[in-house]
Amino acid sequence: MKLKVMMLVAAGALLSMGAASAQDAAALIKSKNCMNCHDVEAKKMGPSYKELSAKYANDKDAVSRIVKRLKDGQGHMKAAATDDEIKAMVESALSHK
Ligand code: HEC
Repeated sequence: MKLKVMMLVAAGALLSMGAASAQDAAALIKSKNCMNCHDVEAKKMGPSYKELSAKYANDKDAVSRIVKRLKDGQGHMKAAATDDEIKAMVESALSHK
């Protein structure tokens, strides 16, 4: 119980600093409706995050390239989020190893 409170406080501190934790990113992905077309495990309209994580595992430029695609709406639908939010979401999407 005490631990839970401490974790909430820590999460609040992170949020107020503007830093996105992995958990925040997962929540963001849900709130930005990315899961309408994506799933962690299964292919839907878009590729699964597991598939993307494997595909880009050795591609160190993948995050910045995909962030640009989502930001400018190049082929992919444009993400209605700030640059930092998009980066956090893409990093999270590619982290399912
Ligand atoms: C309308 C459906 C749809 C929505 C909503 C959507 N995506 Fe996608 N996404 C796709 C499709 C289809 C692809 C595969 C084609 C492509 O790469 O553009 C894709 C590809 C991707 C890729 C891989 C891109 C690449 O270059 O390989 C990532 C990462 C991704 N989406 C993340 C997101 C995130 C984060 C969100 C929420 C902001 C999101 N998607 C919302 C349909 C969607």
